[in-house]
Amino acid sequence: MVDQKKLAVIIGTNKGIGFELCKQYIEKGYDVIATCRQSNTALEQLECDVIEGIDVSAQPSVELIKSKIKHERIDVLIHNAGILESDQISTIDFESMRQQFEINSLGPLRTILSLEAKLGKGSKVGIVSSRVGSIDDNDSSNNYGYRVSKAAVNMIGKCLSIDMAPKEVAIALLHPGYVRTDMTQMRGLIDADESAAGLIARMDELSMETTGIFIHTNGEILPW
Ligand SMILES: NC(=O)c1ccc[n+]([C@@H]2O[C@H](COP(=O)([O-])OP(=O)(O)OC[C@H]3O[C@@H](n4cnc5c(N)ncnc54)[C@H](OP(=O)(O)O)[C@@H]3O)[C@@H](O)[C@H]2O)c1
Repeated sequence: MVDQKKLAVIIGTNKGIGFELCKQYIEKGYDVIATCRQSNTALEQLECDVIEGIDVSAQPSVELIKSKIKHERIDVLIHNAGILESDQISTIDFESMRQQFEINSLGPLRTILSLEAKLGKGSKVGIVSSRVGSIDDNDSSNNYGYRVSKAAVNMIGKCLSIDMAPKEVAIALLHPGYVRTDMTQMRGLIDADESAAGLIARMDELSMETTGIFIHTNGEILPW
């Protein structure tokens, strides 16, 4: 018999926004499964199940997640893992672009597809994208690889929202804000706890009426 508590599975959790998502879903009373490439003391101290050795750019690694989840159903799945490798027109590196596409775009698609059998009516999926993946919002250029990878994952999420609608699985593309984490060298406008609290509120609000939205942690609907 499966635990009656709701289950949240968070992908990419050893620091930053993903760690805070785990912490706050635990505080909300969820069972939490946290996947990461490499765990650490802080993550081990949370009351959650940690699945280590999960690299979202590697198919066999991602398939391990499903085999380790005993619950029949996932209530909330958030793909948070991502990388940023800065570039500008004079420094574009195609291998770096490929790597960002592999992790930031194909990573979410890979994890969601591999866990699809555990998603059913009422399940919610969040993909942590970025506002810089918005074509309409781009007025500063730079970061070609990162921008392209996030624009691509927005399209992937939108397609999934349509394909998974018959199963009544809702999907959101989430912008976490400009957050002080390792990714931003601790620059930003908000801390990871505030970002995660907003993302969880957005996931709580998500429904089949709003599936496929691209939304800021503060609730602002973002242009594509
Ligand atoms: N911070 C911001 O202002 C901001 C703004 C917009 C969007 N975002 C997005 O928010 C998400 C979280 O970023 P963050 O700011 O919290 O950055 P972060 O502190 O650098 O955390 C990134 C997380 O992703 C994991 N990760 C990276 N590559 C991975 C891979 N191949 N497989 C599995 N996990 C991997 C990292 O684990 P390792 O330690 O193993 O590398 C880490 O746990 C990312 O998707 C990012 O693009 C952040």
